[in-house]
Amino acid sequence: MAERIAEEKINQIRQSVDIVEIISEYVQLKKQGRNYFGLCPFHGENSPSFSVSTDKQIFHCFGCGAGGNVFSFLMELEGISFLEAAVKLAEKANVDLQVNFSASGKGKSVSPEVQSMLDAHELLRKFYHHLLVNTKDGQHALEYLLNRGFTRESIDKFQIGYSLNSWDFVYKFLTKRDFSPEIIEKAGLIIKRERDGTYFDRFRDRIMFPIFDRNGNCIAFSGRSLGADEPKYLNSPETVIFNKSKILYNFHLAKPSIRKLQQAVLFEGFADVIAADKSGVENGIATMGTSLTEEHITLIRQNTESITICFDSDKAGIEAAFRAGNMLIDVGCSVKVAMMSDGLDPDEYIKKNGPEKFRNEVIGASHTWMAFKFLYFRRGKNLQLEGDRLAYIETILKEISKLTKAVEKDHYLRQLASEFSISLDALQQQLKQIFFTEKRKSNGQPPPINKTSVRVKQDKKLKPAHYTAERRLLAHMLRNRDTAYRVQDLLKGNTFNIDEHQAIITYLIGFYEEHMKPDSSAFLTYIQDENLRRIVADIEMMSINEELSNQELTDYIKQVLNYQKLLKIKEKEVEQKEAERQSDFSKAAAIGNEIIQLRKSL
Ligand code: CTP
Ligand code: MN
Repeated sequence: MAERIAEEKINQIRQSVDIVEIISEYVQLKKQGRNYFGLCPFHGENSPSFSVSTDKQIFHCFGCGAGGNVFSFLMELEGISFLEAAVKLAEKANVDLQVNFSASGKGKSVSPEVQSMLDAHELLRKFYHHLLVNTKDGQHALEYLLNRGFTRESIDKFQIGYSLNSWDFVYKFLTKRDFSPEIIEKAGLIIKRERDGTYFDRFRDRIMFPIFDRNGNCIAFSGRSLGADEPKYLNSPETVIFNKSKILYNFHLAKPSIRKLQQAVLFEGFADVIAADKSGVENGIATMGTSLTEEHITLIRQNTESITICFDSDKAGIEAAFRAGNMLIDVGCSVKVAMMSDGLDPDEYIKKNGPEKFRNEVIGASHTWMAFKFLYFRRGKNLQLEGDRLAYIETILKEISKLTKAVEKDHYLRQLASEFSISLDALQQQLKQIFFTEKRKSNGQPPPINKTSVRVKQDKKLKPAHYTAERRLLAHMLRNRDTAYRVQDLLKGNTFNIDEHQAIITYLIGFYEEHMKPDSSAFLTYIQDENLRRIVADIEMMSINEELSNQELTDYIKQVLNYQKLLKIKEKEVEQKEAERQSDFSKAAAIGNEIIQLRKSL
């Protein structure tokens, strides 16, 4: 894709898409005043510091500093080039770009090596699937799946396949098609033998579950053994295209349903996701056999804040649900927990009880997070025994004391009171005690707020006057062409103190030479440097007075120039000390005079 897109086409695209609409596909936005706010897709956070301006057609995150226009949003989020972002947006805006892209079509501008890895996965995925559903070699595997209750429909939908019982099938299959052994080894599909440097296939005689990224590219496989072979599931290793802590199984297929229902169901295993899907629960996802990470949570929360955890109802599953639930609660998600009887896993439950019961009596009857904790803390305790009973009540009261809504507190207190025949009064009193003990423990400090917002606030406090002045001037210069030229004049050949600010001025003047009017989004495209784009987006989002009075303007300019003089004075003071040290008193006196002059000019 070496082609360039004409400037006017870019403008046409920019004018026909709405940044709020585009970003809404990735982030839940809520309108607040003139702007929209949501959780930043570029870093994990609990409270929204990501804002989008319709007027300016730009976005900015006060937490991590990400910022730009609709092009840079797609570029950063999807890791694509400007050209690719333009192509995507042109499609949405129905703008005909009238350029012929090379044979790979709208393909990603990923490195040739990565492209090759993706191609190899795509090819194998198709072939594994073909082996499973059409060939004699795969027949036993197909029978295994059908016996387990997988339907032909699910097998197609999830592109399940079969890998031959061969040591070098994949190696030959891919190298014959000109894939380099080094690259397929890096992609995790074959393994190099230490002793002679030859290769062998990683997956042999296994049911193959392709793993897709959020764009639907096959980036890894998980192979399940047919019998009792260990490991039960063999996964692709971590590679440049496969990072377990970021990938959720079935995310690309589940996403539309997650968004529509505003609910995601988190399972422990692929088999569960597939069985649930077959039962009409299409918003299911699973981690790759690892615990939930912050990156997973960020990905989910770009689509919904409500998560139903549906893990195996055995001891390990319940512990894992408790951990995952706490992580989700900590970032403000609404969490439910679906449980099955007899320690079953969802797949087994569905096989035994059918889809309807699963939908209604498991997913539909999920426990609230608090109700789940009642059950969780009760395990292993004999509530007939006084000691166990008191310990349990104490634990639950601690949990209740963490609730913020009075109605909820009251509800659970009453529940506890009635279950254990204790007076509500007594429980309330103990709750108060717990509250004060906890408060004393935290030393009267305010409750912890999320780290990002704390950091941002501190940053703002530490900024010196000249920094703020420069930002305010830039804010006005970005909004008004005349102001830009006036500031330029008033600086009388001096520059801003912060290099990035000066670089922005240089770009801005260049932009105004070509454009008569300010245009935030167009200017962001004009700037080549990503870091500067972020700073511009930040400054664009500052609230400033519409009008810039002369007084204000000269004050700001003074702050900018004064800083340079103050630096000069500091320098002189050092020189003066040095002169005194060398007993060169006439020199010291001369420098002293200079300092006095400089001070006067402040
Ligand atoms: N897993 C894994 N490696 C293993 C075992 C499990 O990566 N050796 C991961 C897989 O992602 C699997 C999930 O953990 O989907 C859940 O494991 P488990 O409950 O043991 O598997 P099931 O989903 O019950 O699979 P099956 O029904 O096929 O036994
Ligand atoms: Mn299972």
